Order: sequence, then structure tokens, then C-alpha cells
Amino acid sequence: MKTYKIAVIGGDGTGPEVTAEAVKVLKAAEAKFGFKADLTNFDFGGERYKRTGETLPDSAVEELRKFDAILLGAIGHPDVKPGILEKGILLKARFDLDQYINLRPVRLFPGVECPLKGKGPKEIDYVVVRENTGDAYTGTGGFTMKGTPNEVAVQSAVYSRFQVDRCLKYAFEYAKKYGKKATGRGKENTLALCGKTNVLTYIYDLWERAFHEMGEKKYPEIKREYYHVDATCMWMVKNPEWFDVIVTGNMFGDIITDLGAITQGGMGIAAGGNINPEGVSMFEPIGGSAPKYTGMGVINPLAAICAAQMMLETLGEEKAAKKIEEAVKYVTAGKMKSMAAGKMGYSTSQVGDLVAEKTAE
Ligand code: IPM
Ligand code: MN
Repeated sequence: MKTYKIAVIGGDGTGPEVTAEAVKVLKAAEAKFGFKADLTNFDFGGERYKRTGETLPDSAVEELRKFDAILLGAIGHPDVKPGILEKGILLKARFDLDQYINLRPVRLFPGVECPLKGKGPKEIDYVVVRENTGDAYTGTGGFTMKGTPNEVAVQSAVYSRFQVDRCLKYAFEYAKKYGKKATGRGKENTLALCGKTNVLTYIYDLWERAFHEMGEKKYPEIKREYYHVDATCMWMVKNPEWFDVIVTGNMFGDIITDLGAITQGGMGIAAGGNINPEGVSMFEPIGGSAPKYTGMGVINPLAAICAAQMMLETLGEEKAAKKIEEAVKYVTAGKMKSMAAGKMGYSTSQVGDLVAEKTAE
């Protein structure tokens, strides 16, 4: 039997509650599809930081390297200054494990209320490939004359050709395998570059040249499009059906995927994968730790369940992944009243039960 070593980091706030439901569904899939998820829990997060001053030590990164995948709940604690846990745990894991792709599907499931008039699951059905190691996230910059009236802050967006090329390769390959034509959802496989070539004339010039060079040489059958980031936001609202696979830098990817998430029903349902195609990947619900709902059993676990689903897909358990996706759709279509915390018509663990039961069927 195939065994996967999975590191589980429940994290802060409602993270552990939603992660428990994702694990419940994993266990249901395990029994049904004949693989084994060998789980190891880690307590990284705000509480541990408050107790020990430790975020994610280097020794922990080395330990995490030995796993097949990581399942993460949420990082963020109301008593800890913003930036410490995010940089010390989440971004450190992404950078040190070189998870250079942040894969964020924007998919509206049946029965989920969409804030866009006249749009449904057929229209809202695309994926954002967000570069996950460069841009303004590298920490390049600093202050001069800090604290004086003349102080200056600089934070630079940084991209190397190497970073851009490996991200583009992943995006083109993804479009080839999972694009709308490849999966019978449309006539073409399309990769759209989202940039800002009219202002960020260095980094997005690099992206654009690399994009067309690679596309022309290696992926001529994939249709290439370019949108500025501001226009991308507009079309994600007005004509989301135009999109198939979008590739973009780290910062724009962060911003547009929150917009994407709200069009697919909000943070209760949006999941993402921090992927190192050659190493250890980490899967997470993209919403935060929602501290005010901690322990109430009202938070929506579907995003965490979808993160586990993406994890199985990436590990190669495609059948189990497909079954969980169907189970989630069954629950959104016919069971839940809303995706919002406290309005689901079920508790957190009841939603987990519904998905787990349907998965095991
Ligand atoms: C996300 C989050 C993180 C990011 C924060 C918490 C550092 O917003 O995963 O999208 O900016 O990448
Ligand atoms: Mn974000």
C-alpha cells in the first residue's frame, strides 16, 4: 500500500478546527482508495511563539523536508504583531522549501452564492498560477533615517530570469494538461500573463519577453494573452469566463486571488497549494485564522478540505481527489445554506462529516 508522510500544522485560531475536518476526509479517502496517510502534527504558530519565541526554526525546516507533503491550517495571532508569524512561518516555509508555485483555483461550486450577477460555475472556472518566491516578498529594501521627518522606506520587487522561467514552464505545462481544451471545457488552452508592463517596465518587461519566448518555442499550441493587473481585476468581475490559466508575479497574485476567492464564494471555500514540483509542497485554505470564531464550531472547513483534495491530486492520488471534489460539490449543491461562518446550517464538524461520508460511499 502506498504510504504518504504528511506533516500537519494546524496553526492559529480556527486553523486546527478546519484542519481536523480535512484530516477526517483524508481518513475517509484512505479507507476507500487504498493508500495510507501517515500524519505527524506540529505546533508551529502564535501560541508556541508566545511561549518560546520560536517561529519556524531551521531544524524544523530540515525535518519538514523529509515529508511527502504539508497540510497547513492558518497562521496569524491577535497578540502577535503582524508580519512576525507570516514571515517567520508561512513565508519561511514557502521560501526555504522553494515552493515556487502558488496554485490557486478560482472555481465556483454548484449551490454556492456568487456575488457576480449572471455568473455561475460555468463562468467562474479558472486557475491562477502565482509565482511564490520573488517580487516585493523577498525583503529587499530598508529604511534610511528611520523615525526622523526625512525617513525613507524602499521595498523592491525583484525577479530573476530563472524564477520567471521556472514559473512560466509550470504554467504552460498546467495549461497543456488541465486547460479548458485539454479537459473538454472549451475550445482552447489559454495562458494569460497578468502584469503591468506600462509602469513596471523592468520586471514585467522581463516576464513578457520570457512568456512569449517560451510560448513561441515550446508551447505554440497554447493561446497566449496579456492583461495589465488592473484590467485583470476588471475582467475577473465582468467576464471571468475569458480566463483559463492566469500566470503572474507574487504580489499581483496575492491580490487577484483574494478577488478570485470572493467570486467563488469567499474564504470559506478557497484553497491553494504552495508547490515545489521537485520537492515538498504545502497546502492551505487561503483565508486567515479568523480568531474571533475560534472554538465555536461555526467556521467553514471546506477550504481546508479542498486543500487536502489538492494535496492528494498533487501526490498522484487522482481518483481519491476526484471523489473528494465530487463530495464537496454534493454538499455545497444540496446541503449547506451558505459558505459564511455561522450561516452554513451545520457546524464545522457536521460539514466535515457530510463530506467524509460522501467520500467513503
Ligand atoms: C496569502 C497571504 C500571505 C501572502 C500573507 C499572510 C503573508 O495573504 O497566502 O495570500 O501575502 O502571501
Ligand atoms: Mn493573500
